[in-house]
Amino acid sequence: MADARPFHWEYQPEHVPREVFRIEGGKPLGGNVPISGAKNAALKLLAAATLTGERCRFTNVPEIEDVRVMADTLRDLGVVVDHPEPNVYEVASGDVEWLFVPLEAAAKMRASFVLLGPLLARFGRVIISNPGGDRIGRRPVDLHVEAMRAMGAQIDYRNGYFFATAPGRLRGAEIRFPFVSVMGTENALLAATLADGHTVIRPAAQEPETDDLITFLRKMGANVERTYPDTIEVFGKRRLRGAEHNVIPDRIEAGTFIIAAAVTGGRVRLEGAPCDHLGAFLDVAGRAGVGLVCGNGTIDVDGSPLLAGGFRATDIETAPYPGLATDLQPPMCVLLSQADGTSRVHESIFEDRLEWLAELSKMGADVRLVDEHHASITGRSRLHGADVEIGDLRAGASLILAALAASGTTTIHGAHHVHRGYENIQTKFQDLGARIERQAEGTAVTSS
Ligand code: UD1
Repeated sequence: MADARPFHWEYQPEHVPREVFRIEGGKPLGGNVPISGAKNAALKLLAAATLTGERCRFTNVPEIEDVRVMADTLRDLGVVVDHPEPNVYEVASGDVEWLFVPLEAAAKMRASFVLLGPLLARFGRVIISNPGGDRIGRRPVDLHVEAMRAMGAQIDYRNGYFFATAPGRLRGAEIRFPFVSVMGTENALLAATLADGHTVIRPAAQEPETDDLITFLRKMGANVERTYPDTIEVFGKRRLRGAEHNVIPDRIEAGTFIIAAAVTGGRVRLEGAPCDHLGAFLDVAGRAGVGLVCGNGTIDVDGSPLLAGGFRATDIETAPYPGLATDLQPPMCVLLSQADGTSRVHESIFEDRLEWLAELSKMGADVRLVDEHHASITGRSRLHGADVEIGDLRAGASLILAALAASGTTTIHGAHHVHRGYENIQTKFQDLGARIERQAEGTAVTSS
């Protein structure tokens, strides 16, 4: 095999050009902002397209780095991925011979692991990198692997790769998770659509993005039903067909702009915003005193209570949907830094999601880390500009919010993290009147 690509046992992370955001804060945001398609839906939809040889077409796909990584990962497999115009992707998975998802893909994006289920179900084999290894993070994928084994797959783990085969077809199975996993549910669901027989997944994720995936799978001809809120049942089909789908709006991006308007004391209208998917978040923000009105596809945010004395301290706890999304915990913490009194924060999903609060405290927030899952925030703090470092996507966006609320200039290092998941974030903020620039690391400060 002269053209065979080597396994990459010794992985060197790709060099990413260092960029910073420079933000001059203290200006209330105002105007309208369009909400993009949901990252966490789009990635799974692109993966689902490998379940058929027919062409699938997706609209309202966010133009973000993670989508580009997924598209490139599919192309490396031999899948045709066209990008005929902005926000539109077409996927045709006729000939896929190279059933190998390398560490490069997993290192850039954990969601590449959602290819396990569909590739295994359609082609009967895949070698896929473990995104949960020590090299690139702590998060395990044991639930995904056990779900495939329950469906009859043989999976060996060697040198950081899962070698998965499904002799014959996968078999429908009763899949019981010990707790809710979003991508674990989605991997099992994707695999079950082509498995032989009946699959029950419980407890299944109830996230709107998982439901969007179900809607698309049905258009492909899959027999999938949510029979109880936490139960998904699938009767496998021998083949699925191509389909078209418009990605749902991104509730996490929407929540981020809501907090941006609130903490700058601004007034912003979100367009194409998924009010229905933001229940727990809107409830907390409303209790804290943010003015919120849901319209027909719009959310009007009034941050003026900030100027009239600040917001109210509110305890928060993240949980699987319909609870408060862990991805909205960091922006919510910025709001709590602007609330009078002490708020307690319980991050129940991930053990590394409060670490970013150390950066927020460099900007003047009064934060006490109790343990990996608990913190308290006492406000109202006068945030000030500082030099801070982004560790991950959601923390990055939240440091932008803090910088917009702060006096003076903030330099945020590691800007590339934010482009993984937010479309045109800088332009969207500029259009709302924010003074935000993106520059190569080390560039002299310019006024905006
Ligand atoms: C998805 C979202 C992410 C969000 C998270 C929780 C995508 C691409 N990402 O991530 O933005 O923050 O849901 O809402 O959709 N776990 C295990 N073993 C497993 C799988 C998960 O122990 O095999 C644990 C995780 O470490 C975590 C919890 O289960 O503590 C929930 O994680 P999970 O719902 O699987 O998150 P993701 O699907 O990876």
